[in-house]
Order: sequence, then structure tokens, then C-alpha cells
Amino acid sequence: MVELEIHGVAPELDIEAAKAKLSEIKADKMSGWLTLPTDYDKDEFVRIKSAAEKINSDSKYLVCIGIGGSYLGHRAVIEALNRKSPTKILYAGSFLSPAALQQVLDELGDNDFSVNVISKSGTTTEPAVAFRIFKQKLIDKYGEAEAYKRIYATTDSREGALHDEAVANGYESFVVPDNIGGRYSVLTAVGLLPIAVAGVDIDKLMAGAREEQDADDENIYKYAAFRAALFNKDYDLEVLASFEPRLFYFAEWWKQLYGESEGKNSQGIFPAATIYTTDLHSLGQYMQEGRRNIFETIINVTDENPLITVPELKENLDGLKYLEGKSLSYINQNALRATVTAHSTSIPVVEITTPEINEMELGKLIYFFELSCAISAKMQGVDPFNQPGVDMYKNEMFRLLGKPTQQSNLDNRA
Ligand code: PA5
Repeated sequence: MVELEIHGVAPELDIEAAKAKLSEIKADKMSGWLTLPTDYDKDEFVRIKSAAEKINSDSKYLVCIGIGGSYLGHRAVIEALNRKSPTKILYAGSFLSPAALQQVLDELGDNDFSVNVISKSGTTTEPAVAFRIFKQKLIDKYGEAEAYKRIYATTDSREGALHDEAVANGYESFVVPDNIGGRYSVLTAVGLLPIAVAGVDIDKLMAGAREEQDADDENIYKYAAFRAALFNKDYDLEVLASFEPRLFYFAEWWKQLYGESEGKNSQGIFPAATIYTTDLHSLGQYMQEGRRNIFETIINVTDENPLITVPELKENLDGLKYLEGKSLSYINQNALRATVTAHSTSIPVVEITTPEINEMELGKLIYFFELSCAISAKMQGVDPFNQPGVDMYKNEMFRLLGKPTQQSNLDNRA
């Protein structure tokens, strides 16, 4: 279970209405992620671990190429956990800025590397262009045969340009299941290969998600019902706040999950994120006293790191004697409590508490947010699993860049 508490004036929650949406989600052909923690492909899971071991043994860097759902989930887990690994992950294909790409190339230098190219459709422009650039670099460095052994492709099992290329060149391939869309795919090979390479225990990550799946957590429905109730009262902006900078990319993943699942047919709560306490000294003002269409979801990580404390000094010139010997965690926790109290006098606040950031707890949170997001979208009457707006941008860019039309029918299947 994921612990959840509503602060301040709570709207009336229709938890039964939230629960009723589960059968609609189960019946949807894109609901593979719902049972993924138990139904995942066990043979592929073993292959993911062996590929990660090989990459750890022959590569100082793994360049992960992907965008949106083919990028944010694994970066969220990798950065939140910051495990030790012989291989550092670099990211490309989630931007088209030459300056940003140059930075990646500069860090890579002449070191040994491999590439994991991730694209369900296999045709998205940003990763496709980045892949060409890094493939050429691999070929220049290792020659074609060895280069192809250093390319890992995660894509559709049957079609798309990347699938066809992987078959033609014999890349080791992993599958994005047909019944799982990009932003729900972090616990498939899309996320698991980079996550494993980064030294994260993927067995525990899956076990955490499985625990949440098996728990049939009431709080999943409560969170969805809370959001729906607020949406009906014209609250259309949600801020996910955390006091842990290492959750920055987790919030980026969450923003994509909710924004792309709900923002359609003129519906949807706009998802934003803050990292406190730094943003308390900027956006905190808006949260407390700005326009009241906003609510806040605070992730509270309660574990205490006793190692960093306020040192004892002879003098008290800075007036901090009262904090001597106190841990930074203690001060951070009190900043959180102060924020919850202050903000909930003025806006609805929901607090989601996790005892620590580890594989198990992240697995739980991933499952919790995925299911409550799908339910929440259904409660707003929209399809959580399509992204016609993103498809429109992708197609318009194909048109502007002069992509031959016969290739376009394979696109937009993410
Ligand atoms: O969630 C989604 O479906 C999208 O964000 C996609 O993941 C993103 O557009 C990338 O698509 P693809 O994996 O086909 O390259």
C-alpha cells in the first residue's frame, strides 16, 4: 500500500465511482501494464539481465536513445536511486538541440560505449536522428560487425523502421508489448534494460510493483477520486512537490503520465512539479497566495539520514545553537511539515508518504500512479492510452521535413 493523507478541506470523494472504472481499464486493449508485475516475459527478463552484464563489462557508457515514454521512466528510476555501476548512462534522442547533443558527445569522448535505442513506433524523429549519429560513431570506432553487437533495440515485435533495421542488422532486440503504450512502459524492457545497466535491482523493482498490484490499494482509488472531485470544482492545475531533488525525473515521468493521459477533449488537470525547498522561495509564493485553481500532491520520504548534522561550535554567531546535532533530514522533514500546514490553509493538499526511496518503494509508486492516472482519466471521460495531440505534432514535423508519405503509416503507434 502507498500511504496517503488529505490535508485541509477535503472535497467529497466518490471512491466507488473510481473503483467502477477498473473494469473499463481491464477491458481496454492497452491495459497490459495492469498485470505486468506478474505477467512479464520471464525469458526476456533473463535476457535483459545478461545484456546489462555484457554492457557493464564492455562499456563505460550506455547511450540511451528515446523520448517521452521511451525515456522518462528509466531516467526517473535511475536518478532517484543513483546506484553504483561500471557503466554511466547518457541520454540522447529526447531533444533536437545540437548544443545538447554536443555535450553528450563530449562526455562520451573516445570511451567504450553501447547504445540502447528505444522507440515503440520505431519512427519518431528525435530518437531516429540521434540513433543514426551514434550508430555512425559506433561503426567508426569498432567497425560494422562489432558496432552491431553494441546496439540494443527496444521496439515493436513486428513492424516499424527500427524493428526492420534490428532484424536486418542482427541487433539484440527487446519488445515493447502491443498492449502497453509508451508512458506505461517503464516496467517493460523500455525501462528495465537501462535501469539494470545502471546497477538497479530490477527483481526488487518488479517485486515492489507486484506488491502494489496484489494489494488492490484503496488509496489508488482515493487519489483518483480526490483529483476527479477537485477537477469538478474547477481545480485544473496539480503540482507534484517533493523535498528530494533526486525525484526531479520521477516528477518529469509523472508529468508525462498524467499530462498525456488526461489532456485531451478539452479535459485534464495540468500537471506541474516543484522541488522544495528551493521552489518554496519562488513558486511557494504562488502556491500560498496565487490563483486558487491549484492543488498540491506532496511526496514525503520519511527515512532519516543521520550522517549529515549541524555541527557544534563554540560561538553562536549564526544563531543556530538550537539546531546543533540535529540532522539535515530532521530539518528537511520539518520544512515539509511547515509546508503542508501552510499550503493546506489555502489549497487542497494530498500527502503521499514513502518510507524511503529504494527499488521496492519506487516499484510501488510507479504502479500506484499508473493505475490512479488511468482511473482519473476515465473519470474525466477521456481515453488514457492515446495521444492524438502528440501524433499531430509528429506528423506535422514529418510533413515539414519532407518525409515520404508511404513511411508515415507505420508511425504514431506509441
Ligand atoms: O507515451 C507515449 O506514448 C509517447 O510519449 C511516446 O512514448 C513517445 O512519443 C515516443 O514514441 P516512440 O516510442 O514510438 O518513439
